[in-house]
Amino acid sequence: MKVPFVDLTEQHREIRDEIDSVIREIIDQSCFVGGPHVETFERDFAAYCGTRYAVACKSGTDALKLALMAVGVGTGEEVITVPHTFIATVEAITSVGAHPVFVDIDKATYQMSPDRVADFLEGECRVEKDGRVVNKNSDRPVVALLPVHLYGLPSDMEPLLALADRFGLKVVEDAAQAHGASCHLDGEEKRTGTFGQVGAFSFYPGKNLGALGEGGAAVTDEQDRDQRMRLWREHGQSEKYVHVSPLGWNMRLDTLQCAVLSLKLKSLDKWNQKRRQAAQWYRERLQNDDRIVLPVEPSGRKHVYHLFIVRLPNRHQVREELSKQGIGVGLHYPISLHLQKAYQHLGYKPGDLPVSEAVAESILSLPMFPHLTEEQVDYVCRTLVAALG
Ligand SMILES: Cc1ncc(COP(=O)(O)O)c(C=O)c1O
Repeated sequence: MKVPFVDLTEQHREIRDEIDSVIREIIDQSCFVGGPHVETFERDFAAYCGTRYAVACKSGTDALKLALMAVGVGTGEEVITVPHTFIATVEAITSVGAHPVFVDIDKATYQMSPDRVADFLEGECRVEKDGRVVNKNSDRPVVALLPVHLYGLPSDMEPLLALADRFGLKVVEDAAQAHGASCHLDGEEKRTGTFGQVGAFSFYPGKNLGALGEGGAAVTDEQDRDQRMRLWREHGQSEKYVHVSPLGWNMRLDTLQCAVLSLKLKSLDKWNQKRRQAAQWYRERLQNDDRIVLPVEPSGRKHVYHLFIVRLPNRHQVREELSKQGIGVGLHYPISLHLQKAYQHLGYKPGDLPVSEAVAESILSLPMFPHLTEEQVDYVCRTLVAALG
């Protein structure tokens, strides 16, 4: 048996006729940029998330950049984030001229640790008379918190939001891997992307909601932020050839991608549920093996299993064996970002963020996609247990 790491063929087969017909319609109309399909997708995606606005853009990386700019992060300021994430989280910070400050992750959930954020803010920052928070080591203002809902599990938002409130920080969420995940907050179930001021999503093909290519969106409740992100997305123009912002890019998302995303959005909850079912099959088969650490789903937080991660004692050996047996696996992510050459200049060294480092060295991502079958999960689990020896 072969089990790919991700297989999107079944997902596309389910809605293939609708995809073909909307692509035909767009080609017939020769309307490839902007238009009603973009507006409809933005409206539908905002409604799905539970925000007033969504700004579709070229990628999740662009969405993060727009989000940081929309909350006012600028040159020379610092943003608190995690080193256990895809590099795009941090690229977005540096691309707006700001500096990342890494805090360690929680040992059980692999998400930003509220305790470590508190340690940093209380121990390494001072609060100026005007309320600004300044990093005592760098003398730079600390202005925002950027948690990542990694693997599809929402970060521990209640204490993070309380800290942001106490220290006057803006909150931008990296929800690139967590479309449809949710948290109970203030007695309400809220979806990721809606906890802070702006949430950023990626529609890279393998994501829970994936385009037929690159794509992203930033969601917000605030009209002013929505308007500014729209300006920056499109050459700083308020109307054709009228440029009102000195900053601007071409970050538009193609009409075709928006049309396909609207179709796929209708199946997102069903496909997330299938991912949760596959995760349950993994749990049933692996939970009694104490060599394997399974992902946790703390109460009040709904995981949508973009990735199913296990921690293992001998990751490299198991990885090789699974590959030999026709099973696709991944490493998300093998080197903690604070130890990457790209961020050497920040001065972190091995041992500074021990949980992130230990997790990066021991994780393995098992096959996960909505149409993964119980038979496939069974084969992966049997092969994994045998490989552990
Ligand atoms: C956590 C995280 N943040 C940001 C991104 C960036 O998204 P994109 O690849 O669409 O630019 C990704 C994509 O893999 C991601 O996983």
